[in-house]
Amino acid sequence: MGEPGTPPVVGVIGGSGVYDIEGLKNAQWRKVDSPFGDPSDELLTGEIDGQKVVFLPRHGRGHRIPPSRLNFRANIDALKRAGVTEILSLSAVGSLKEDLPPGTFVLVDQFIDRTFAREKSFFDTGLVAHVSVAEPTCGRLAGVVEAAARAESISVSRGGAYLVMEGPQFSTRAESELYRSWNCDVIGMTNMPEAKLAREAELCYLTIGMVTDYDCWHEEHDAVSVEQVIKVLMDNADKARALVRRVVPQLAGRAEACDHGCHRALENAVITRPEA
Ligand code: ADE
Repeated sequence: MGEPGTPPVVGVIGGSGVYDIEGLKNAQWRKVDSPFGDPSDELLTGEIDGQKVVFLPRHGRGHRIPPSRLNFRANIDALKRAGVTEILSLSAVGSLKEDLPPGTFVLVDQFIDRTFAREKSFFDTGLVAHVSVAEPTCGRLAGVVEAAARAESISVSRGGAYLVMEGPQFSTRAESELYRSWNCDVIGMTNMPEAKLAREAELCYLTIGMVTDYDCWHEEHDAVSVEQVIKVLMDNADKARALVRRVVPQLAGRAEACDHGCHRALENAVITRPEA
């Protein structure tokens, strides 16, 4: 949430099905340039009950960019340049657990990153840094989102491990069973390296995994039609918009530092000696 005293600006990254948000006043699409290249789209800026919000559809309006082609660095950098201090990251996911049926929202607190074709750091030759991602999401945001989800009667699960695969194909059954044996809860293609980059940018970050399907390990998988999955996706998108509408005003006016230390992630991370 930025330096102590900095007013918060809430960033929302919309996943599959979420290409806009609800209740936004003074809404304006704005192009933000980044030295890391083009973000997925312009940023939609505005206010909800006086609280500043910046929205980015992760795959672009019209869903044009597949997971492996997303410019995660440009997306996080553009949000940071727009003043964002905390990110709610919405993401459609498959379930790896019987007790997380389609329609459940999982507040992710761990990741296993199996992606391999993506730029993963803002740091490179010349400036070396190793940030901690032992706790990759912000528990303060999770508390606020959990309460809001319950108030919206959304079935919510606090905590969960998200297996991030490269895609774009879904998993084989053997892979799906392997991830279940690792005790992962949900699977998707988009929240890494996003979460790592948010930490490098010293932003509070929370993944809200919206379950659309049981992955292929589940007996019912083959019986589910594309229409059913799309219906769940659209219902989840409606719930996500209502959730954001409720959460954003509750993040307003907080001047204290994040007690999870997200905004201090680089304090002991930079290894390169400053020029004498
Ligand atoms: N996104 C939504 N469902 C998924 C699944 N089963 N595997 C990977 N990504 C997903």
